[in-house]
Amino acid sequence: MNKEREQFGSRLGFILMTAGCAIGLGNIWRFPVVTGACGGGFFVLLYAVFLIFLGFPVMMMELSLGRGGRSTYPGAFRNLSTGKSRFKWHTPAYILFAGNFILLMYYTVISGWLLAYAAALCSGKAAALTPDYFDRFIADTPGQILYTFLMILATVVICLGSLKGTIEKSIKVMMAGLFLLLGILVIKALTLPKAMEGVKFFLYPSFENFAGKNFLETVHAAMAQAFFTLSLGIGSIAICGSYFGKERSLPGEGLWIVLFDTLVAVCAGLIIFPCCFAFDVSPAAGPPLIFITLPKVFCNMTGGAFWGSLFFVFLTVAAFSTLVAVFENLVAFGMDEFHLSRKKSAGICGVLLTVFSLPCILGFSIWKNVQLLGKGSSILDFEDFIVSDNLLPLGALYLALFCMNRYGWGSENFYAELNAGTGLKFPRCMRFYLKWILPVVIFAIWAVGLYKKFL
Ligand code: ALA
Repeated sequence: MNKEREQFGSRLGFILMTAGCAIGLGNIWRFPVVTGACGGGFFVLLYAVFLIFLGFPVMMMELSLGRGGRSTYPGAFRNLSTGKSRFKWHTPAYILFAGNFILLMYYTVISGWLLAYAAALCSGKAAALTPDYFDRFIADTPGQILYTFLMILATVVICLGSLKGTIEKSIKVMMAGLFLLLGILVIKALTLPKAMEGVKFFLYPSFENFAGKNFLETVHAAMAQAFFTLSLGIGSIAICGSYFGKERSLPGEGLWIVLFDTLVAVCAGLIIFPCCFAFDVSPAAGPPLIFITLPKVFCNMTGGAFWGSLFFVFLTVAAFSTLVAVFENLVAFGMDEFHLSRKKSAGICGVLLTVFSLPCILGFSIWKNVQLLGKGSSILDFEDFIVSDNLLPLGALYLALFCMNRYGWGSENFYAELNAGTGLKFPRCMRFYLKWILPVVIFAIWAVGLYKKFL
């Protein structure tokens, strides 16, 4: 075990870095897209239920695992196993941990798109962002490599410094900027004509809008979104716990993180849906919503170039905070498992990530015919399927089994770590739920999702 593990400089630093890891494309892109496709308010209701009953408990488990195990995912399992069984809990954790790397293999590419759009809008080229621009843009391999590389480089530079220094400080600046931009954009969106129709579609659980959607698919999408938005199951949150001291108990801190994450998702909806209704654009436009539909909206808006620039800068910052936190997990892995220095680990991870981001990029040009998930699917879709549809829920399930099983870490040990310190405590009456119900629910929804996808 690494005895001289770095620690956050402040409680705020911990909460913001963990929230920064959670807040990202999942809140601002994926959430409105899935909400639009799944019929609006009814999906939001289901998502909120999953956030409370699945997301929050699993987040408690990840944070406790990280803080108790003082290591990245595999090492934390190794350090905390009671040894009552011969099963090597840390071995499957390597596969789950790989989810961080796979996530970054496409997350860096999408972040590059955001950077490129932010740059185009800030330099007054809003009119060039026509609907067909996006297809040409993603097929331009050298341009894609450049923007992805810039995002990776910026992430590596921040993670080369110390946790308390560059990482914590830059996350605080990013989060402050993010909330400021969010506030300005929400006010602008809500004052557009017909804005309230968008708000109603988004927040009112209407069965009319839900009609024709598949209930089981919607349930699966809501769970996948709850895990994706909180980055749960693959250890991205555990790493933040591993840098946190024992002064405060974890449930209170976790509530702040979930609240921040939800606030950003709800505000993103309050920006996007009023815009869609104000400019008669379908809220169910799917993944192209951000890159094809919204630029069209900004072009029609008075002062659209300014608002568009602000929106894409906001998205880029949100994605960047996730990149830094998840990349830090990879850097810490190199330090924990191979005893590399921070600089060496960051450098190696940066080079590997640059190389492994290529399949996603090439999937839109010369590898366009690699359609592993069926006709019309891309390599990005496949990578997202591995992470969002499989590793996140399976990781959450594995974590629940480890924490609540005496052959793993054991519920007594887990509760002791979770509630250590001052602040809110997790109720003990939830033990039955965590041990028996939570894993069954996660497994059932994961299996249904898979069945629906392929059969
Ligand atoms: N939790 C991260 C996001 O929402 C992955 O984008």
